[in-house]
Amino acid sequence: MSDARPEIDVVAVVGAGTMGAGIAQVAAMGGLRCLVFDPVQAARDTVRDRIAGSLERGVGRGFWSADQAEAGLARIEVVDTLDGAAEAGLAIEAVPESLELKREIFQRLEAACPEETVLATNTSSLSVTAIAAGLARPERMLGLHFFNPVPAMSLVEVVSGEATDPGCADRAHRAVTRMGKTAIRAQDAIGFVANRCARPFTLEGLRMATELGLPPAEIDRICRLGGGFPMGPFELVDLVGADINLAVARSFFEQSFGEPRWRPSQTQVRMVDAGRLGRKAGRGFYEYGHGPHREPDPEVGDARPILDPDRLTDIAGPNAATVMGWMSAQIVNESVFTLAEGIATEADIDTAMLEGFNWPVGPIEWGRQIGFQSVIETLERLRGAYGEAYRPAPLLRELT
Ligand SMILES: NC(=O)c1ccc[n+]([C@@H]2O[C@H](COP(=O)([O-])OP(=O)(O)OC[C@H]3O[C@@H](n4cnc5c(N)ncnc54)[C@H](O)[C@@H]3O)[C@@H](O)[C@H]2O)c1
Repeated sequence: MSDARPEIDVVAVVGAGTMGAGIAQVAAMGGLRCLVFDPVQAARDTVRDRIAGSLERGVGRGFWSADQAEAGLARIEVVDTLDGAAEAGLAIEAVPESLELKREIFQRLEAACPEETVLATNTSSLSVTAIAAGLARPERMLGLHFFNPVPAMSLVEVVSGEATDPGCADRAHRAVTRMGKTAIRAQDAIGFVANRCARPFTLEGLRMATELGLPPAEIDRICRLGGGFPMGPFELVDLVGADINLAVARSFFEQSFGEPRWRPSQTQVRMVDAGRLGRKAGRGFYEYGHGPHREPDPEVGDARPILDPDRLTDIAGPNAATVMGWMSAQIVNESVFTLAEGIATEADIDTAMLEGFNWPVGPIEWGRQIGFQSVIETLERLRGAYGEAYRPAPLLRELT
């Protein structure tokens, strides 16, 4: 049934920090009027200049013309009060990650905006359902999970909480598409889709280093050359920051009441304790600041995962087949658990990883290429050696 409510032409962004400025930019460049509010005067005073700088860099790179950038900037208006957001058809909150703060913002938005305004949170780790629980009409609220940096990252997860009205999710989905983003649908769950399906990449990298005694640089090289990933798990942890990555790992483990697949790594705890936080600290799994952190890779002429074990060994070394087998099995397993729990469709899970993390292949499609029976056999061997972290998702057997 089609939704008779008007299309969204005006967006409000609440919180003009890293994410808010990025969201305002993509909304305005998508032709939407954009009202930006932040309680901090300095943030209100500088946000348009920050967006203007980003738009100018986009002109320099040929993403849009100077006229388009100027027209986009003209659609952005900074407002002095939250009530100034009232004429928006969609209000997106991007304030710090605190349940109490977000609940308070949404209660104020609910009071300020007309009934048909869709309310959205950009939270990446809180429950959309829990944030919406404080509202008189929680059905108008959902998650719009943009990724950082917003102008460069094409994925947005449209997250429905327990009470979200499907019509509101449809309207938000269309608005996000107008912003030039690839929107996927997700149900409210720990980590939503992309961050959850990406968990095994770093966690299994850390486990393999610990259990197999392989050097991190070798695992990274195998993932790049043998798996076709843009970077290996240890380079990724160094880029994101070991402390940030560990906080996410802790949050998954605690929220799930101790799911063994999501147990954080003691190796990573020690790295954080030692201050080896990655690029920002000048050292992590690699040393930074004295030229490139690693040798350039040879050209292999194939960015997709390489499934032929002989070719894999030729390209990425003698441990490649074991390591890619371990890594790929748990990546497929996590994505199939996500599918089985009804968090997202198969197509949306694959799109999330292709668009959100530039993976060479979606994880469900990867499972199909490897063969789900082979994935189960690898998981059962790992389970025998290392325990319940490797129990296969029951749906894997149905997919064989
Ligand atoms: N930074 C990321 O990589 C990233 C990625 C995805 C999602 N997120 C989520 O986006 C949200 C914002 O993150 P960020 O990195 O942009 O934070 P940030 O610290 O850069 O910006 C937060 C902004 O909110 C403002 N603010 C504080 N209290 C406010 C209030 N009561 N009303 C309105 N504005 C208020 C601050 O002045 C600041 O400008 C968080 O929920 C975060 O989890 C962040």
